[in-house]
Amino acid sequence: MEDGRKVLSNVIHSQVDLHTEFGGVVPELAARDHLERLPHLLELALEEAAIGADDIDLLAVTRGPGLVGCLLVGVGVGEGLATGWGKPITGVNHLWGHIYAAMITQPDLEPPLLGLVVSGAHSDLVYMPEHGRFQVLGRTRDDAAGEAFDKAARMLGLGFPGGPALDRLARIGNPGRQPLPRPSLPGLEYSFSGLKTALLYRLRDLGQSVTDQDRADLAAAFEQSVVESLLEKLNQAMLQRPPLKEVVVCGGVAANSLLRRRAAEVVAGRARLTIPPLELCTDNAAMIAAAGSFTGRQPADVDPSLSW
Ligand code: KG4
Ligand code: ZN
Repeated sequence: MEDGRKVLSNVIHSQVDLHTEFGGVVPELAARDHLERLPHLLELALEEAAIGADDIDLLAVTRGPGLVGCLLVGVGVGEGLATGWGKPITGVNHLWGHIYAAMITQPDLEPPLLGLVVSGAHSDLVYMPEHGRFQVLGRTRDDAAGEAFDKAARMLGLGFPGGPALDRLARIGNPGRQPLPRPSLPGLEYSFSGLKTALLYRLRDLGQSVTDQDRADLAAAFEQSVVESLLEKLNQAMLQRPPLKEVVVCGGVAANSLLRRRAAEVVAGRARLTIPPLELCTDNAAMIAAAGSFTGRQPADVDPSLSW
């Protein structure tokens, strides 16, 4: 990254093929693959950016949350490079990265902002008053939105990775034909496990008689319940806060086409909405570098009980 906003290279190696036969991510395999691939990926990144070690001011590495084996590999490689090259290094929270993907997308985007960060493990509403400070306003009590999509996709026989497949199937479904409950907790908390169970029971009731159209209708109903629940709390958070000019929706689930469309409708006329393009929604290195360049030189002074 240059100046925290301009992507010089963003090399991604997907591990989907590695994990497909297991129907989900196998942590040990993921960590080993990180170790094997990182050196070559780093070479590619430098080559694509057409820079050398001398051009680098700061290294950024994800320090968590995530799979501990993968984090260890990343931190080990990062610290090795920092020592070898004599450069400073900063640890970045993975969720900061998702928010900073929006700063890459919208060059004049600055805090304060309200963020909805939806990934495989998080569904967090966060207030960001300034760079490097994040106050979590609400999160999920049980499953994250991405996890719920992945589990629902598996129940519908869509395999791994489930979220994108469910998105595609939902496009040919009618959410009104097989309606599912919409989760609703007081305040700004989310819960998706009840919805997941409702889908399980519906599929059990349909049994052998379930048709492809039923599956598409259920995918659409499930997607609609998750998306409307996410946006209902975003709407509530927007009403509670003093008027904020900037809203960000990000994380892997922000690649979902219904969420992108409905978020634009909910936020329209009230604030500017930034949703990163698909390749910056799902996990990537550019967002971590961007977060590192905005936060790396001034460690955030935050209350750990309130923030990421
Ligand atoms: O942020 P991310 O790439 O990785 C984590 O930090 O977890 O998010 C991955 C999650 C997965 O649960 C995946 O199924 C979901 O994002 N996802 C989607 C879509 N694309 C990715 N969920 C719904 N619709 C999509 N189009
Ligand atoms: Zn992520």
